[in-house]
Amino acid sequence: MKAIIIYYSHSGNTAKVAEVLREHIKQDGPVEVIRLEPIDETKAFFAQAVQALKRAKAKLKAVKTDLSEYALICLGTPVWALAPAPAMNRYLSECKGIQGKDVVLFVTYGGGLGVKRCLDIMEKEVKSKGAKKIFRFSIQESKVDKQNLVREQIKIKYSQLC
Ligand SMILES: Cc1cc2nc3c(=O)[nH]c(=O)nc-3n(C[C@H](O)[C@H](O)[C@H](O)COP(=O)(O)O)c2cc1C
Repeated sequence: MKAIIIYYSHSGNTAKVAEVLREHIKQDGPVEVIRLEPIDETKAFFAQAVQALKRAKAKLKAVKTDLSEYALICLGTPVWALAPAPAMNRYLSECKGIQGKDVVLFVTYGGGLGVKRCLDIMEKEVKSKGAKKIFRFSIQESKVDKQNLVREQIKIKYSQLC
């Protein structure tokens, strides 16, 4: 089974979770990993939050958007202002080839406000593109270095796919 993980990470937490996820799913076949790179990103917290609140779509460095060759598609983002980060908003709107696929959605977060809303937004997008089964998990920023815990979360979701 060919899989791909596409994620955005500003301060590295989501990147850590993506790496544990990669380790886990590579047992079933090749895994490609893509980190989204916004071109027009602001580094200021307030401006980032406003952009996310507005559901803005970041401009991205050229990235593969046709996912039709993958059986499993994983999409990850930090929660920003109760929503996906603008880089993920852009990717979600542009990606294709999800029809009939299994999709894993994952987020990292701070206090926890907006986790469900953020995942709901992502789920709605991938459902509208015909995703078959959707699995979701979330990891708090304070836990991203606890690899066993992250692995456990992943295992629970992933076992439902097999
Ligand atoms: C602009 C901004 C907005 C955020 N908004 C939320 C939020 O609404 N809810 C929450 O639980 N955490 C929020 N956080 C915390 C991040 O989701 C958390 O630190 C995440 O793990 C960062 O992931 P990263 O290191 O991959 O960028 C926010 C962080 C930033 C920078």
